[in-house]
Amino acid sequence: MKLSRKEKNSYWMPYTDNQWFKKNPKLLESAKGMHYQTQNGKKILDAVAGLWCVNAGHCREKIVKAVQKQVEKMDYGLSFQMGHKLSFEFAERLTKILPKNLDSVFFTNSGSEAVDTALKIALAYFNAKGLGAKKKLIGRSRGYHGSGFGGTSVGGIVANRAQFGNLLNGVIHLPHTHMPEKNSFSRGQPKYGKEKADALEDIINFHGSENIAVVIVEPVAGSTGVLVPPIGYLEKLRKICTKNNILLIFDEVITGFGRLGASFASERFKVIPDIITMAKGITNATVPMGAVAVDAKIYETLIKNKKEKIELFHGYTYSGHPLACAAGIATLDVYQEEKLFERAKKLEKYFGDRAHSLSKLNMVKDIRNIGLVAGIELDSRSKKNGTLGRDVFDECFKNGLMVRYTGNTIALSPPLIINKKQIDQVFDILGYAIKKCF
Ligand SMILES: Cc1ncc(COP(=O)(O)O)c(C=O)c1O
Repeated sequence: MKLSRKEKNSYWMPYTDNQWFKKNPKLLESAKGMHYQTQNGKKILDAVAGLWCVNAGHCREKIVKAVQKQVEKMDYGLSFQMGHKLSFEFAERLTKILPKNLDSVFFTNSGSEAVDTALKIALAYFNAKGLGAKKKLIGRSRGYHGSGFGGTSVGGIVANRAQFGNLLNGVIHLPHTHMPEKNSFSRGQPKYGKEKADALEDIINFHGSENIAVVIVEPVAGSTGVLVPPIGYLEKLRKICTKNNILLIFDEVITGFGRLGASFASERFKVIPDIITMAKGITNATVPMGAVAVDAKIYETLIKNKKEKIELFHGYTYSGHPLACAAGIATLDVYQEEKLFERAKKLEKYFGDRAHSLSKLNMVKDIRNIGLVAGIELDSRSKKNGTLGRDVFDECFKNGLMVRYTGNTIALSPPLIINKKQIDQVFDILGYAIKKCF
């Protein structure tokens, strides 16, 4: 079934070259486990877990059934001044896999909302403590924190900011940690670059810690092309934030829920932030949801120091939506019953070895990997520059493989249920596609 011209014009696709897509639409129709099926019945191996979110594989029966059961029982329950048991139960379940001190959870509907919520909580926290001057927000170059005004402002991907003017004021950016001259083809955490965190000291000296509320980073930067933190870097950020009474936020929208072979990146790197934002794998992407987990000191300060009847003037109609909570609880069950986080850790070496096997192609400029994530950066072509990543993506799709591209970097983050044969398939097809497109 082809799309009509009216249908094509009616739907404005997000983060997409609409003209390119609509010339030759690629339409997915169904999904199960590791695969999609297209409208023409073609099977596509999913090497990106949807958009880094379907960590347990597609259409998992337990999750689907939990959502079906809940939608028949109570489709929606209002979230302001009323509650339902599932949101409390799910929040408590999440605290069991979060770092020990992060034991209060605020629900949102996406990663973008989780980021904006986290920034607002941080500002409200300092306000409640009588430190209202602490307002500046520190992000990082090449960071991605979603599409809200807060997330776009602290984000550091130039193209995502360029169309939108001033954004929030009082935002400063740390330098990114990418150092290809020293770290290319690193496996896991690169050796060099922890001194990039020293820039935070410089920013504090210049702006004053009394004016700075938060530092927000992705522990592993995903959307900008998989940048793994250098050894010692996150530890340094943590130390400087603690010394200066600045809240450290880890945006774990991608790195949460087993992606790095641990429940969260903070567990993997043994660095505990004050706030974690999460989304995507929280419900295995079955129902949209995001969340913000905060350190006990933040929750208690806001609860105890309240001047109004409501402690935080913030929330969403769909915060803690019953269908999302039902999906989330069933998702945590699946992760635990199938030990998927441990599985990701066990597969890391095989996946990393296969990723690095592409280094023999001379058009491959760098390969970065950790857990079940890899970024394969390609040299730019002399001819037809600017579309190489997209051409490789297209060629992979033609050959039954879904990958993701940002610029000339191909990103891989398969569902954690992937097996070794499927890992071989991913890198065989990708290697073929790279050679063909170059
Ligand atoms: C680190 C990070 N934060 C925030 C977001 C935004 O999440 P959403 O698209 O659910 O709003 C993303 C999305 O990819 C992300 O990778």
